Amino acid sequence: MNDQLNLTSVEDMSKKEVMHKLKLAQNFKNGKRVNLLRPVYAMNLFFENSTRTHTSFEMAEKKLGIDILQFDAKASSLTKGETLLDTIRTIQAIGVDFAVIRHPQNTYYQSLLENDLSISIVNAGDGSGQHPSQSLLDLLTIYEEFGHFEGLKVGIVGDLNHSRVAKSNMQILTRLGATVVFAGPEKWHSDEFNKYGDFISVDDLFSSVDVVMLLRVQTERLEKEFVGFDYHEYFKTYGLSQERYQTLKGNAIIMHPAPVNRGVEIQSELVESSKSRIFRQMENGVFVRMAILADILQQKGLLKGALDD
Ligand code: CP
Repeated sequence: MNDQLNLTSVEDMSKKEVMHKLKLAQNFKNGKRVNLLRPVYAMNLFFENSTRTHTSFEMAEKKLGIDILQFDAKASSLTKGETLLDTIRTIQAIGVDFAVIRHPQNTYYQSLLENDLSISIVNAGDGSGQHPSQSLLDLLTIYEEFGHFEGLKVGIVGDLNHSRVAKSNMQILTRLGATVVFAGPEKWHSDEFNKYGDFISVDDLFSSVDVVMLLRVQTERLEKEFVGFDYHEYFKTYGLSQERYQTLKGNAIIMHPAPVNRGVEIQSELVESSKSRIFRQMENGVFVRMAILADILQQKGLLKGALDD
């Protein structure tokens, strides 16, 4: 579902495209600047709560010189029955160049892309589907640490079924040559994961991987299941405790897309431990999002000069 003017998924992203985006993000991190040929406008439409993705897209837009138009889902005409497609057509007519969208419905973007819009759609997370910018910032964080993906073992732990982070990352990491393994409650694991990696015990995972990727327990998607959910028991059975931390490989790193439930997925003090890259992931998110938007700006012919990675 990606063309050069939209970014909605990592499912079909080639190795070459990933490495181009990571190099470009590194260049932005090292101070690269771009100049726009005309004023460019973005609107960030978030229909689910967000701190990191929303703020870092906004920061990326500002750093690229893009003007941001405010959008409040609760105050918009969607509450009067307007469809998402008509909302996007409306802001396109008004002159917005980019719509960065987070939406609870999986693949909400398909119906938009079928309509030959000139506005660019950037997926900031769809339901339990895809989270492409999170996946790319995770890749940048891993690449900065190890300098390659081939041969790395990445363990994804927790609420797999509901996680767009797990799904995006298992697809792209295996394409890049990494081995992926999964752990967590069996009821949150399903057959769709089998073609990407084995489901193993959490202790075997922690002691054998190069990258631990913890997932947030998504209470907002699990209301019924969460009646009687025992957070203490979850931490004891699957959480990264100090004891389990001691079993990690010497050069292993800990990642988590955040927000973190401290004391549930991970012992609170370990969020700031020497192996944790959780705040590095957030820092990298700005530069990856600059790379995503800059590539589209180039395709739209809105950049002065070439955008070399
Ligand atoms: N990781 C992530 O998507 O965080 P937010 O929900 O705060 O954007």
